[in-house]
Amino acid sequence: MGAAQSQDEFKKQAAEAALNHVQGGVVGVGTGSTVNHFIDYLATIKGRIDGAVSSSEASSKRLEQHGIPVLDLNSVGTLSLYVDGADESNQSLQLIKGGGGALTREKIVAAASERFVCIADESKLVSVLGRFPLPVEVIPMARSYVARELAKLGGNPVWREGFTTDNGNLILDVHGLEIAEPMALEQDINNIAGVVTVGIFALRPADVLILGAASGPRTVT
Ligand code: 5RP
Repeated sequence: MGAAQSQDEFKKQAAEAALNHVQGGVVGVGTGSTVNHFIDYLATIKGRIDGAVSSSEASSKRLEQHGIPVLDLNSVGTLSLYVDGADESNQSLQLIKGGGGALTREKIVAAASERFVCIADESKLVSVLGRFPLPVEVIPMARSYVARELAKLGGNPVWREGFTTDNGNLILDVHGLEIAEPMALEQDINNIAGVVTVGIFALRPADVLILGAASGPRTVT
């Protein structure tokens, strides 16, 4: 099995294991290739849930294709469960997210959920966040200003050209950061005018991390 193939198998394994956390009601659903596997598994028990709140147009489409009702977060109140992937996690379950550009809606649904179950292959677990370029969603007119401010923080921001978020904004991917204090950096970047969302999920980390691996799924809490 090739490396990419086994990584996808590990994602699938984590996604299947997350089904054990589904207790019915409305499920918050993230975005990405790991979540796509989760949506496919969720479809097998769709009769046991009332529907899903989605974090992206892409996930909404996949949910609808499976006949899972997609509900508006405003009409459902607090969610008991949110399932999403990550680009990196440290041992404290603080995450980098936004590789797929859906970070803003992901952060909203995570914030509105009692329990955040993160699903990933084992390569996503790191000791220090930052090797994966940190995504920052930015209002278009603020792109250059925010890039200069991010450079002052020690990063090298690169505009994800040709990409527009579901909210009509841009993404800067910040390379070269070693994120020793994720909560402080999350707050600092949030405070830059023109930043919509930074892809550090540390103020609201995951509660459970399920890692797919050759030895089978492993849960970190
Ligand atoms: C999308 C995300 C994804 O969860 C993250 O990029 C992981 O993706 P994948 O499951 O494809 O590895 O944050 O904005």
